[in-house]
Amino acid sequence: MGETYAIVSGKGGTGKTSVCAGIASALAEQNRKVLCIDCDVGLRNLDISLGLSDVPALSFLDVSEGSYTLEDAARHPRYPTLRFLTAPMNRPVEKIDTEAFGAMLRRARDSFDFVFLDAPAGVDAGFRLCSTWTDRFLLVTGPGPAAIRDAARVSDLLELSGKRNVRLVVNRVDEELLSTVRLTIDDVMDTTGTPLSGVVPEDANITLAAAFGTPVLMYARKCPAARAFRRIAARLEGVPTKLKL
Ligand SMILES: Nc1ncnc2c1ncn2[C@@H]1O[C@H](COP(=O)(O)OP(=O)(O)OP(=O)(O)O)[C@@H](O)[C@H]1O
Ligand SMILES: [Mg+2]
Repeated sequence: MGETYAIVSGKGGTGKTSVCAGIASALAEQNRKVLCIDCDVGLRNLDISLGLSDVPALSFLDVSEGSYTLEDAARHPRYPTLRFLTAPMNRPVEKIDTEAFGAMLRRARDSFDFVFLDAPAGVDAGFRLCSTWTDRFLLVTGPGPAAIRDAARVSDLLELSGKRNVRLVVNRVDEELLSTVRLTIDDVMDTTGTPLSGVVPEDANITLAAAFGTPVLMYARKCPAARAFRRIAARLEGVPTKLKL
Protein backbone atom coordinates (compact mmCIF):
# COMPACT_ATOMS: atom_id res chain seq x y z
CA MET A 1 0.00 0.00 0.00
CA GLY A 2 1.53 3.31 -1.08
CA GLU A 3 1.60 6.63 0.74
CA THR A 4 -0.02 9.86 -0.41
CA TYR A 5 1.53 13.21 0.42
CA ALA A 6 0.00 16.62 -0.21
CA ILE A 7 2.57 19.38 -0.74
CA VAL A 8 1.05 22.51 0.80
CA SER A 9 2.13 25.98 1.93
CA GLY A 10 -0.54 28.61 2.23
CA LYS A 11 1.55 31.36 0.68
CA GLY A 12 2.15 31.21 -3.07
CA GLY A 13 5.58 30.73 -4.62
CA THR A 14 7.28 29.03 -1.67
CA GLY A 15 8.46 26.19 -3.91
CA LYS A 16 5.75 23.52 -3.53
CA THR A 17 5.91 22.51 -7.18
CA SER A 18 9.73 22.47 -7.28
CA VAL A 19 9.91 20.46 -4.06
CA CYS A 20 7.23 18.04 -5.28
CA ALA A 21 9.09 17.44 -8.56
CA GLY A 22 12.47 17.15 -6.81
CA ILE A 23 11.38 14.58 -4.22
CA ALA A 24 9.35 12.60 -6.79
CA SER A 25 12.37 12.46 -9.13
CA ALA A 26 14.64 11.36 -6.28
CA LEU A 27 12.29 8.47 -5.45
CA ALA A 28 11.97 7.54 -9.13
CA GLU A 29 15.78 7.45 -9.35
CA GLN A 30 15.53 4.64 -6.79
CA ASN A 31 12.96 2.89 -9.00
CA ARG A 32 10.08 3.63 -6.63
CA LYS A 33 6.71 3.77 -8.36
CA VAL A 34 5.63 7.40 -8.09
CA LEU A 35 2.50 9.19 -9.27
CA CYS A 36 2.58 13.00 -9.33
CA ILE A 37 -0.75 14.81 -9.58
CA ASP A 38 -0.88 18.52 -10.35
CA CYS A 39 -3.76 19.84 -8.24
CA ASP A 40 -3.26 23.49 -9.13
CA VAL A 41 -6.48 23.61 -11.15
CA GLY A 42 -6.34 26.32 -13.82
CA LEU A 43 -2.71 27.27 -13.05
CA ARG A 44 -0.86 24.02 -13.56
CA ASN A 45 2.94 23.90 -13.90
CA LEU A 46 4.20 20.71 -12.29
CA ASP A 47 4.82 19.37 -15.81
CA ILE A 48 7.52 22.04 -16.26
CA SER A 49 9.41 21.15 -13.08
CA LEU A 50 9.23 17.46 -13.97
CA GLY A 51 10.56 18.14 -17.48
CA LEU A 52 7.27 16.96 -19.01
CA SER A 53 5.93 20.06 -20.71
CA ASP A 54 6.34 18.45 -24.15
CA VAL A 55 4.68 15.19 -23.13
CA PRO A 56 0.90 14.90 -23.68
CA ALA A 57 -0.72 14.20 -20.31
CA LEU A 58 -4.20 13.34 -19.14
CA SER A 59 -5.71 15.44 -16.39
CA PHE A 60 -6.69 13.86 -13.07
CA LEU A 61 -10.35 14.43 -14.06
CA ASP A 62 -9.86 12.19 -17.11
CA VAL A 63 -9.06 9.40 -14.66
CA SER A 64 -11.26 10.28 -11.67
CA GLU A 65 -14.33 10.57 -13.92
CA GLY A 66 -13.62 7.21 -15.51
CA SER A 67 -12.75 8.12 -19.12
CA TYR A 68 -9.27 6.62 -18.58
CA THR A 69 -7.50 4.51 -15.97
CA LEU A 70 -4.39 5.18 -13.90
CA GLU A 71 -2.56 2.92 -16.34
CA ASP A 72 -3.03 5.71 -18.92
CA ALA A 73 -1.24 8.36 -16.82
CA ALA A 74 1.65 9.97 -18.72
CA ARG A 75 4.95 8.12 -18.43
CA HIS A 76 8.11 10.07 -17.77
CA PRO A 77 10.45 9.44 -20.73
CA ARG A 78 13.52 9.44 -18.47
CA TYR A 79 12.20 7.97 -15.21
CA PRO A 80 10.35 4.78 -16.17
CA THR A 81 8.63 4.45 -12.76
CA LEU A 82 7.34 8.03 -12.63
CA ARG A 83 3.83 8.79 -13.88
CA PHE A 84 2.00 12.07 -14.09
CA LEU A 85 -1.53 13.49 -14.21
CA THR A 86 -1.95 17.18 -14.92
CA ALA A 87 -4.56 19.57 -13.52
CA PRO A 88 -7.70 20.28 -15.55
CA MET A 89 -7.89 23.71 -17.16
CA ASN A 90 -11.57 23.76 -18.13
CA ARG A 91 -13.36 23.15 -14.83
CA PRO A 92 -13.42 25.34 -11.73
CA VAL A 93 -12.12 23.46 -8.73
CA GLU A 94 -15.45 23.96 -6.91
CA LYS A 95 -17.15 21.85 -9.60
CA ILE A 96 -14.81 18.88 -9.20
CA ASP A 97 -16.32 15.69 -7.78
CA THR A 98 -14.17 15.31 -4.68
CA GLU A 99 -15.52 11.86 -3.82
CA ALA A 100 -14.44 10.57 -7.23
CA PHE A 101 -11.02 12.23 -6.70
CA GLY A 102 -10.70 10.43 -3.35
CA ALA A 103 -11.68 7.11 -4.92
CA MET A 104 -8.98 7.60 -7.60
CA LEU A 105 -6.39 8.22 -4.86
CA ARG A 106 -7.42 5.02 -3.06
CA ARG A 107 -6.87 3.08 -6.29
CA ALA A 108 -3.54 4.85 -6.85
CA ARG A 109 -2.26 3.65 -3.45
CA ASP A 110 -2.64 0.08 -4.67
CA SER A 111 -0.37 0.61 -7.68
CA PHE A 112 2.17 3.23 -6.54
CA ASP A 113 4.66 3.45 -3.68
CA PHE A 114 4.19 7.22 -3.46
CA VAL A 115 1.49 9.59 -4.67
CA PHE A 116 2.25 13.32 -4.51
CA LEU A 117 -0.43 16.02 -4.73
CA ASP A 118 1.00 19.39 -5.72
CA ALA A 119 -1.47 21.73 -3.99
CA PRO A 120 -2.27 25.27 -5.06
CA ALA A 121 -1.46 28.26 -2.86
CA GLY A 122 -4.15 29.31 -0.41
CA VAL A 123 -6.52 27.40 1.83
CA ASP A 124 -9.58 27.32 -0.42
CA ALA A 125 -11.22 24.62 -2.50
CA GLY A 126 -7.98 23.40 -4.15
CA PHE A 127 -6.31 23.03 -0.78
CA ARG A 128 -9.34 21.17 0.57
CA LEU A 129 -9.36 18.86 -2.46
CA CYS A 130 -5.78 17.86 -1.62
CA SER A 131 -6.07 17.74 2.15
CA THR A 132 -9.31 15.80 2.47
CA TRP A 133 -7.98 12.54 1.09
CA THR A 134 -4.57 12.25 2.66
CA ASP A 135 -3.13 12.18 6.15
CA ARG A 136 0.45 13.04 5.17
CA PHE A 137 1.63 16.54 4.38
CA LEU A 138 4.82 18.30 3.44
CA LEU A 139 4.48 21.93 4.46
CA VAL A 140 6.80 24.04 2.32
CA THR A 141 7.85 27.46 3.51
CA GLY A 142 10.52 29.93 2.59
CA PRO A 143 12.54 31.73 5.25
CA GLY A 144 10.53 34.99 4.95
CA PRO A 145 8.11 36.08 7.70
CA ALA A 146 4.99 36.04 5.46
CA ALA A 147 5.63 32.47 4.26
CA ILE A 148 6.31 31.30 7.82
CA ARG A 149 3.16 32.94 9.16
CA ASP A 150 1.05 31.35 6.40
CA ALA A 151 2.68 27.98 7.00
CA ALA A 152 1.79 28.26 10.70
CA ARG A 153 -1.82 29.00 9.72
CA VAL A 154 -1.94 25.94 7.45
CA SER A 155 -0.40 23.82 10.19
CA ASP A 156 -3.16 24.99 12.58
CA LEU A 157 -5.88 24.28 10.01
CA LEU A 158 -4.55 20.79 9.43
CA GLU A 159 -4.37 20.12 13.14
CA LEU A 160 -7.96 21.32 13.56
CA SER A 161 -9.08 18.80 10.96
CA GLY A 162 -7.26 16.00 12.76
CA LYS A 163 -4.30 15.77 10.38
CA ARG A 164 -1.26 15.00 12.49
CA ASN A 165 1.39 13.83 10.04
CA VAL A 166 2.66 17.22 8.86
CA ARG A 167 6.36 17.72 8.16
CA LEU A 168 8.15 20.90 7.31
CA VAL A 169 10.38 21.63 4.32
CA VAL A 170 12.22 24.94 4.57
CA ASN A 171 13.03 25.96 1.02
CA ARG A 172 15.30 28.63 -0.47
CA VAL A 173 17.54 28.67 2.57
CA ASP A 174 20.56 30.93 2.43
CA GLU A 175 22.67 30.60 5.57
CA GLU A 176 24.06 34.10 5.32
CA LEU A 177 20.60 35.60 5.00
CA LEU A 178 19.32 33.55 7.95
CA SER A 179 22.14 34.75 10.16
CA THR A 180 21.61 38.37 9.06
CA VAL A 181 17.96 38.24 10.13
CA ARG A 182 18.87 36.07 13.17
CA LEU A 183 16.50 33.29 12.14
CA THR A 184 17.20 29.60 12.71
CA ILE A 185 15.50 26.53 11.30
CA ASP A 186 14.48 25.74 14.90
CA ASP A 187 12.61 29.06 14.99
CA VAL A 188 10.70 28.07 11.86
CA MET A 189 9.86 24.68 13.39
CA ASP A 190 8.69 26.37 16.60
CA THR A 191 6.51 28.91 14.80
CA THR A 192 4.86 26.34 12.56
CA GLY A 193 4.74 23.66 15.26
CA THR A 194 5.91 21.01 12.82
CA PRO A 195 8.88 18.63 12.78
CA LEU A 196 11.43 19.10 10.04
CA SER A 197 11.60 16.86 7.00
CA GLY A 198 14.33 18.80 5.25
CA VAL A 199 16.00 22.01 4.22
CA VAL A 200 16.49 22.96 0.56
CA PRO A 201 19.05 25.67 -0.18
CA GLU A 202 18.60 28.57 -2.51
CA ASP A 203 19.89 27.10 -5.78
CA ALA A 204 19.58 28.73 -9.21
CA ASN A 205 19.75 25.25 -10.78
CA ILE A 206 16.05 24.83 -9.91
CA THR A 207 15.04 27.74 -12.14
CA LEU A 208 17.61 26.85 -14.82
CA ALA A 209 16.49 23.22 -14.99
CA ALA A 210 12.84 24.30 -15.41
CA ALA A 211 13.87 26.76 -18.14
CA PHE A 212 15.67 23.96 -20.00
CA GLY A 213 12.78 21.51 -19.51
CA THR A 214 14.80 19.03 -17.45
CA PRO A 215 14.21 17.70 -13.93
CA VAL A 216 16.76 19.38 -11.66
CA LEU A 217 18.17 16.00 -10.56
CA MET A 218 19.16 15.37 -14.19
CA TYR A 219 20.13 18.94 -15.01
CA ALA A 220 22.72 19.12 -12.22
CA ARG A 221 22.99 15.73 -10.53
CA LYS A 222 25.08 16.93 -7.61
CA CYS A 223 23.83 20.46 -7.11
CA PRO A 224 22.86 21.43 -3.55
CA ALA A 225 19.10 21.30 -4.26
CA ALA A 226 19.36 17.83 -5.86
CA ARG A 227 21.25 16.54 -2.82
CA ALA A 228 18.59 18.04 -0.52
CA PHE A 229 15.77 16.39 -2.47
CA ARG A 230 17.53 13.01 -2.28
CA ARG A 231 17.93 13.39 1.48
CA ILE A 232 14.23 14.23 1.95
CA ALA A 233 13.24 11.30 -0.28
CA ALA A 234 15.40 8.98 1.84
CA ARG A 235 13.70 10.27 4.99
CA LEU A 236 10.27 9.59 3.49
CA GLU A 237 11.45 6.01 3.06
CA GLY A 238 12.46 5.88 6.71
CA VAL A 239 16.22 5.99 6.11
CA PRO A 240 17.91 8.08 8.84
CA THR A 241 19.68 10.89 7.01
CA LYS A 242 21.68 13.80 8.40
CA LEU A 243 20.03 17.19 8.23
CA LYS A 244 22.34 19.58 6.44
CA LEU A 245 22.40 22.32 3.87
N1 LIG B 1 15.40 26.28 -3.66
C1 LIG B 1 15.19 27.17 -4.64
N2 LIG B 1 16.21 27.94 -5.09
C2 LIG B 1 16.00 28.84 -6.08
N3 LIG B 1 14.82 29.04 -6.70
C3 LIG B 1 13.77 28.30 -6.30
C4 LIG B 1 13.89 27.32 -5.25
N4 LIG B 1 12.66 26.75 -5.09
C5 LIG B 1 11.83 27.32 -5.97
N5 LIG B 1 12.48 28.27 -6.69
C6 LIG B 1 11.90 29.13 -7.72
O1 LIG B 1 10.82 29.84 -7.11
C7 LIG B 1 9.74 29.99 -8.02
C8 LIG B 1 8.47 29.45 -7.40
O2 LIG B 1 8.63 28.05 -7.24
P1 LIG B 1 7.41 27.05 -7.38
O3 LIG B 1 6.63 27.29 -8.62
O4 LIG B 1 7.95 25.69 -7.13
O5 LIG B 1 6.53 27.52 -6.12
P2 LIG B 1 5.04 27.14 -5.75
O6 LIG B 1 4.94 27.18 -4.27
O7 LIG B 1 4.67 25.87 -6.40
O8 LIG B 1 4.22 28.34 -6.40
P3 LIG B 1 2.61 28.43 -6.52
O9 LIG B 1 2.12 28.78 -5.14
O10 LIG B 1 2.41 29.54 -7.51
O11 LIG B 1 2.13 27.11 -6.97
C9 LIG B 1 10.15 29.30 -9.30
O12 LIG B 1 10.65 30.24 -10.21
C10 LIG B 1 11.27 28.35 -8.87
O13 LIG B 1 12.19 28.12 -9.91
MG1 LIG C 1 3.00 25.41 -7.61
